[in-house]
Amino acid sequence: GRVAVLLGGDSAERAVSLRSGAAVLDALRSRGVDAHALDPAEDGLAPLLAGDFDRAFIVLHGRGGEDGSMQGALETLGIPYTGSGVLGSALAMDKLRSKRIWQGQQLPTPPYAVARGEADLTSAAETVGFPMFVKPSREGSSIGMSRVDDRAALDAAWREAAALDEQVLIERFVDGPEYTAAILGDRVLPMIRLETPNTFYDYQAKYESDSTLYHCPCGLDAEREAALATLCLSAFEAVAASGWGRVDFMLDADGRPWLLEVNTVPGMTDHSLVPMAAAADGIPFDELVLRILETSLE
Ligand code: DAL
Ligand code: MG
Repeated sequence: GRVAVLLGGDSAERAVSLRSGAAVLDALRSRGVDAHALDPAEDGLAPLLAGDFDRAFIVLHGRGGEDGSMQGALETLGIPYTGSGVLGSALAMDKLRSKRIWQGQQLPTPPYAVARGEADLTSAAETVGFPMFVKPSREGSSIGMSRVDDRAALDAAWREAAALDEQVLIERFVDGPEYTAAILGDRVLPMIRLETPNTFYDYQAKYESDSTLYHCPCGLDAEREAALATLCLSAFEAVAASGWGRVDFMLDADGRPWLLEVNTVPGMTDHSLVPMAAAADGIPFDELVLRILETSLE
């Protein structure tokens, strides 16, 4: 049947989604799938309502596409789609609620506070301490996110995050490398350790820089990596995510893991991590894309 590749959208991650979507579309077509691009920001939902498509491959990142709203529309229309359902998408998009769920299950996530107004910042700073990360709770690709080292820099960082989401998350900085675990079906692919000369793995390091280093194998011994894979799978399932996705975490100086977030529609660009992890596992990009398409039928 015909597959709609949903890409673009109107979130702050639109540009990333267009890149991910173009790569997915090429891969599907190269494998003989009757795939067509559909950008909800330009085409609306009319082609889906008209019954032009039998399945949807969601490559929308961020709010409006990755947060359960598009998943809900597709449920209502009876069109099978890739990846997580409504609940998992909504929970994983919301870093604050993801953390609350993990805490409830004794899964480790950095201490945090929520700041809905500038008046909350002093107490948030006392709770969390410096350095800290300031992030919009429901954004992606590090957009609107800052590392803050002292109280003087906190107000400006809060305003930047608050411009994108009324819910601003203030999270304790973990001093150690960032790792990511790609999930395909019920398997965790080889982990990747990220190394960047930037203050953190920000938008520039993610999509523009040639100096970001991706270590895969990640350098942990097999037993340790397997234990962390179990943790990541628990974190993924705790927020009701399914099908495919990516769990980001950090290891502190003592080697303890701290869960950061789950991405239910992770990037699929040529700089992206899930394709890299799949390649390390012997799964070429077009094969990966076909396997993700299959998650729409589960
Ligand atoms: N939010 C971006 C697309 C990622 O997680 O890869
Ligand atoms: Mg994310």
